[in-house]
Amino acid sequence: MSKPSRRPNNPRFSSGPCAKRPGWTLSALEGAFLGRSHRSGAGKARLAEVIERSKAVLGMPADWRLAIVPASDTGAVELALWSVLGARGADMLAWESFGKTWVSDATKALKLKDVRAIEAPYGRLPDLSRVDWARDVVFTWNGTTSGVRVPNGDWIARDRGGLAICDATSAAYAMHLPWDRLDVATWSWQKVLGGEAAHGMLALGPRAVERLESHTPPWPLPKLFRLTKDGKLDEGIFRGETINTPSMLCVEDALDGLKWAQGIGGLPALVARAEANLAAIAKWVGASDWAAFLAEDPQTRSCTSICLKPKDAWFAALAPAVQAETMKDMVALLAREGAALDVGAYRAAPPGLRLWGGATVELDDMDAVLPWLDWAYGEVRAGRAKTA
Ligand SMILES: Cc1ncc(COP(=O)(O)O)c(C=O)c1O
Repeated sequence: MSKPSRRPNNPRFSSGPCAKRPGWTLSALEGAFLGRSHRSGAGKARLAEVIERSKAVLGMPADWRLAIVPASDTGAVELALWSVLGARGADMLAWESFGKTWVSDATKALKLKDVRAIEAPYGRLPDLSRVDWARDVVFTWNGTTSGVRVPNGDWIARDRGGLAICDATSAAYAMHLPWDRLDVATWSWQKVLGGEAAHGMLALGPRAVERLESHTPPWPLPKLFRLTKDGKLDEGIFRGETINTPSMLCVEDALDGLKWAQGIGGLPALVARAEANLAAIAKWVGASDWAAFLAEDPQTRSCTSICLKPKDAWFAALAPAVQAETMKDMVALLAREGAALDVGAYRAAPPGLRLWGGATVELDDMDAVLPWLDWAYGEVRAGRAKTA
């Protein structure tokens, strides 16, 4: 196959930090509130604006609270786990790297005795019917490293006794989150809206607040995780009075992403953009003689972290280490050509490719990159991709 002539205008397909919104330049940050206190009236107003615009775009119910917290999505998830777990047993779902991290946090770091890990290998979802909703349930909406997502929230009991705690970082702004089936949700700024990494968002439903006010964890909570004062929720945190100092440059960028999202039509438009990117890849996979989705069930295929694996006999016959090397060569070739950046599978995932399809990625760029994948795979198969 000859080299495609058209490159994507924007070859950025990283799964985090993700591509900036179309048209973004540094001038988007010119009005940033810099060199001033985030606790001044105007500083707090910017932080509150992030919270209010986020709630509006995501359609969050009025009785939910939303906070900006330190340390990106990891910070938000760990803040939640450290604060609410331990009051009852926990079912922890894991089907890729991040879910497994949360299992290990609960069992090895918090040393919870009553934890059931409900797991599945890369490419599949665990059996969701095994979940016991009398227990707390921790799960990832979209497994970023396998490209497997839960298809919807129907499996989450409305009358649950435990809390539904959801790491939603690669799902928020690209998938519809059913707020009535969740109690805690987290995400970061660096994903679907293409913001700067730094801060996490922690969303709490009324039942999670009830838990925070009635349960004192047996382990010490670092200041960074403290959401209550004298047994009551510290409401200021949910109005932009952050626990510690945030980056106002990142805040400005988060606002830029949110305003863009609102300008193009809000959540329905964001979801439609991601789904269109997935549909373009699905059409191409359907006609491909070498590429397949890592996610086996079409219902579970992510529209953000779209993971692919070679399926042809030539690749299957390679030793595992050679398979990994081959995909590394392919990813390096695509980067050298300026056709696609950061499209390697996650280091702990099976060898393959991962292309981000979230809202900031243009469909035209997704269409343009697909012939490059065919070309680059042909090059590695023919042994022409090695640089040295
Ligand atoms: C599902 C999931 N959870 C957690 C994280 C960690 O996020 P962060 O690096 O923003 O803390 C990621 C990052 O890709 C993720 O995809």
